Amino acid sequence: MRLFISINLDEETKKKILEVQDRLKSFGRGNFTKEDNLHLTLSFLGEVDVNDLPKVKRAMERVSFPKLHLRFGKTGCFRRDSELWWIGIDDNRALNTLQKKLTEELVKEGLKPDRKRFVPHITLSREMHTGLKEGLSFKPFTYEASSISLMLSSRENGRLTYTSLYEKKGAIND
Ligand code: 2AM
Repeated sequence: MRLFISINLDEETKKKILEVQDRLKSFGRGNFTKEDNLHLTLSFLGEVDVNDLPKVKRAMERVSFPKLHLRFGKTGCFRRDSELWWIGIDDNRALNTLQKKLTEELVKEGLKPDRKRFVPHITLSREMHTGLKEGLSFKPFTYEASSISLMLSSRENGRLTYTSLYEKKGAIND
């Protein structure tokens, strides 16, 4: 099973993100992330054997974290053969600490999380060719995250679908 651990968003925040995505649509064709699939990846695990699920859950259980005050303040793009556009989270020490701790605990369990440098982002679109040199400007907004989720990535009738398998809540207070 293809797994990753993410911070999921509430409806209000997804709507705000969709407004930014809508503006991006005016710059050309692309593969735009569907509303249901908007999420912030903390750790990408890739293919994991179903028998190893308890390891992932144990690692998540060992990580404690405060309520996270996330501020969406910029857009950017990763350029490879095409552009992947994202909306990014401003520098956030608590988020970075959580991501680092989670990676360490997953490794302790013998799992192999992706070790690329963490760039906290939510993918808005893939396969674009806008040629834009700068990000889009928008009014920054915030979201308070209080849990992390283990997500299954699958294809249902050809459609990329993310399903939450397990949720770990953070501290109730800051
Ligand atoms: P992305 O949004 O930048 O594509 C599920 O695939 C999630 O895991 C996506 O949010 C994806 O990030 C993220 N991810 C991180 N590393 C990945 C990798 N090596 N392969 C595929 N997805 C990865």
